[in-house]
Order: sequence, then structure tokens, then C-alpha cells
Amino acid sequence: MDTIRLYRSTIGKKAVMAVTGAALFLYVVAHMIGNLAVFAGPDALDAYGRWLRDIGVVWPVRVGLLAAVVLHFVAAYQLTARARRARGRYRHRRVVQGSYAARTMRWGGVIIALFVVYHLLDLTVGVLNPNGVPGAIHANVVADFQHWYVVLAYTVAVLALGFHIRHGVWSATQTLGVTTSRVVGLGVAVVVCAGFLSVPFAVFTGLVS
Ligand code: HEM
Repeated sequence: MDTIRLYRSTIGKKAVMAVTGAALFLYVVAHMIGNLAVFAGPDALDAYGRWLRDIGVVWPVRVGLLAAVVLHFVAAYQLTARARRARGRYRHRRVVQGSYAARTMRWGGVIIALFVVYHLLDLTVGVLNPNGVPGAIHANVVADFQHWYVVLAYTVAVLALGFHIRHGVWSATQTLGVTTSRVVGLGVAVVVCAGFLSVPFAVFTGLVS
């Protein structure tokens, strides 16, 4: 009963956003580090993918990610609707769309969600991949990033993710009383973006083949 009441409150929804955001962030960091196996030679990335399947983490992680994404989205939507309702009659005076950060988070979230759908069809299911052979992760990745438009799509999505993380980390560190500085969020976002983008650009420039 208390849990339901807490979830209905604004602070409860913000807590849900923070906890699910932190879980998604941990996944993103682990995924970014795992991707760097592409630099260890053609077989390393495939072996890493096989190992993840063998130890049985793939499906539990998928279920957890799906739950986190749904909760994160629903809480964000409800908080936006609540803020809009609270502004109520003042709305006609000026088109109030919320702060720059709130707007960036909303549109960034939409771009990331659309990217994840494309990304799953590209590298998990393989139907949108120029190679698309199950288990041939390295070959699929290399086939993808020969094309400038695929590199561009990934770059836009990773930069959107970077902005999202920058604000998310800043929000979380502020809430937890760690720091009010924006430098930590910016630093974390730059590292995550650089790590992810190193893969498409290494393939596109021929460093990885
Ligand atoms: C340049 C950047 C990226 C590369 C090269 C990359 C690479 C890959 C590859 C190769 C897979 C398939 C793994 C397998 O079949 O075992 C995969 C799956 C996945 N990636 Fe990425 N990824 C990138 C960015 C991202 C980003 C930014 C996100 C999240 C916002 C993301 C989320 C996922 C998810 C959710 C899966 C599905 C995992 C599963 O099958 O359970 N990826 N990625």
C-alpha cells in the first residue's frame, strides 16, 4: 500500500526514474566496454558474445532491460503530464515547454528508443545488417560501418545518449548530494561517447577490418 502511494507521488516517480536510469546506465557502460573487444582481433568479439550466451546472462539481462525501459518511460511520461497539468491556466500566456534540459531529455529519449529498435534489427536480429549472419558479430559490425549513413545513424544516437547521460548523471549526483558540479556528468558522457564511437570510426577508417 505504501509502495503504491509512494509510486503515485512525484518524488516516487522521480525515484523510479533514477533507479531505472542507473540500471540502464550500468548496462550501457558494460556494453561499451564489451564492444572494445573488437580491437582485440577478429575472433575476440565473437568469443565474447558466445561467452555471454554460455554463462546464461543474455535473457535475464533482456528481461531486466525491458522492465527498466518501460518503467523509465512511463514515469517520464507521467511526470511530464503532471507538470503540464500543474501549469494549467498559465499555459495560454506563452508556449511553455519546460527547461532546455527537460526538452533535450524528452527528445533525446525518443531518439535513443528509435535507435534501440533499429540497433536490435541490425545487430541482434540481423535483418537490417548488410551481413546479418547469426553469431558472426565481428563480421556484422564490420559490414555495417563500411557505410557512411550507418556510421552517421550510430553517431547521432550515441551523441543523443551522451546528452541524456550528461543530464542524468548531473541530476543523480545532485539528488544524492554528491556534487552540484556539472563536470562529472560531462566527463562520464564524453567517456561513454568516445568508447562507443571508437568502434564505427575504427571500422570506417580501416583500422579494424
Ligand atoms: C557504436 C556503438 C555500438 C555497437 C558497435 C554495438 C554493438 C552491438 C552488438 C554487436 C550487439 C549484438 C550482440 C550479440 O549478438 O551478442 C548489440 C546488442 C545490443 N546493443 Fe549495442 N552497440 C552499440 C551501441 C549501443 C547503444 C548506444 C545502446 C543503448 C542505448 C545499445 C544497446 C544494445 C542492446 C539493448 C542490445 C541487445 C542485447 C541483447 O541481445 O540482449 N548498443 N550491440
